[in-house]
Amino acid sequence: MYKFPKDSKLNDPKFVFGVATASYQIEGATNVDDRCPSIWDTFCTKPGAVYKQHNGDVACLHYHLYQQDVNLIENLGMDAYRLSIAWPRIIRPDGSINQKGLDFYDRVISALEEKNLTIMATLYHWDLPQYLDDKGGWLNRETAYKFAQYVEVVSSYFGDRIDFYATLNEPWCSAFHGYRDGKHAPGIADDKSGFQAGHNLLLAHGLAIPILRKNAANSKHGIVLNFNPVYPADEFAIDVANFAEQEHTHWFIKPILEGEYPETVYQHYIDVMPTIEDGDMSIISAKIDFLGVNNYSRTVIDQDGQYPNYKAVHLRDVERTHIGWEVYPDGLLKLLTDLHQTYQLPPIYITENGAAFEDKVVDGVVEDEQRCRYFQNYLSSVDEAIRQGVDIRGYFAWSFMDNFEWSEGYKMRFGIVYVDYKTQKRIPKRSALEFREYLIARRSGF
Ligand code: FCB
Repeated sequence: MYKFPKDSKLNDPKFVFGVATASYQIEGATNVDDRCPSIWDTFCTKPGAVYKQHNGDVACLHYHLYQQDVNLIENLGMDAYRLSIAWPRIIRPDGSINQKGLDFYDRVISALEEKNLTIMATLYHWDLPQYLDDKGGWLNRETAYKFAQYVEVVSSYFGDRIDFYATLNEPWCSAFHGYRDGKHAPGIADDKSGFQAGHNLLLAHGLAIPILRKNAANSKHGIVLNFNPVYPADEFAIDVANFAEQEHTHWFIKPILEGEYPETVYQHYIDVMPTIEDGDMSIISAKIDFLGVNNYSRTVIDQDGQYPNYKAVHLRDVERTHIGWEVYPDGLLKLLTDLHQTYQLPPIYITENGAAFEDKVVDGVVEDEQRCRYFQNYLSSVDEAIRQGVDIRGYFAWSFMDNFEWSEGYKMRFGIVYVDYKTQKRIPKRSALEFREYLIARRSGF
């Protein structure tokens, strides 16, 4: 069972523990109830784009198995569930509303309500309708306004039945993997496109906030960003490490919290900077109620030629997860305390943290002892960050269950629950049982 000092804020039942997922990664049923194709359906058909050309057609069949999944989330002692809503299920190509899509999320939300689970819904976790990509996707400013229309539909329908609305999941990934390095859908690799997509995504976020406030006045509204704390390889790399941090961490958070892009990065990339219209920055910096922080690892940076050119260094002899990411719990502490020192932060929720390992079912159980250690140590960093004054209110493990891990397909297992894809059987791994034991003990005051 996970263990924290007696006086830890994590031990207070008000601190929210939950698990997270995303629509395309778990739902399957891509051709059901008039769902439109998304950019990920398309990307998965591109040779070489996704491991063994896996796709989300079936995934965890959560579209049909949601009731048993909700039961299991409750059974694990969780307080909350973070899901995402699939835009392609809600809005048709002609802009009309697909009621069957809303009905599906209504069923899921009702099931969660019945179990008294707190609900966090991400409105965009990477599954852009393909019909919008056909018109330029996130390179087209109009997509931000389409997003606002979709948010109007969802939030006027569900209102404050959803406790936390997160506009976007990781715009860094949508923009920089989607349009700058091409590792994710729609697979464009071009600096200028990356920055333009990023700006339009942030605009989409900013346009959504007042709509959410109007339609769900009692809910909390925010955004989920991904962060990899940056470390210099040695004392000569401090300046480039700072630059890399401006480019990756601050490029997305600074406009949201302070209404401007980091100047050094802006000047360095002046030729590929996005078109910014008057008023954009004030839309983007609409006040948010919470910041979702996703963190898995850290990045070590070294100079690569002349400042500010840099490269990531691959350290040897460090612990790594199956996907290759270094296990570095101190990084989460540094990240949280650095952000706290740099910005006036709203309350923070750790919206994703977790690890992929090569899990095996032996005699019906999965002993994922490495993942247990990962959670214990990262949660201890959260505990320490709270002690150092950071206002952290909750933690969501990524992921509730094994699922479609984007370009890695089903090869990477991030779940605390094992999924046997042949039978769709769910088997809680040791790491899940440890959560259960801890959360049940916490409820009864240990
Ligand atoms: C994050 C994504 C999430 C999952 C984890 C491993 O970047 O938000 O969907 O794939 O990584």
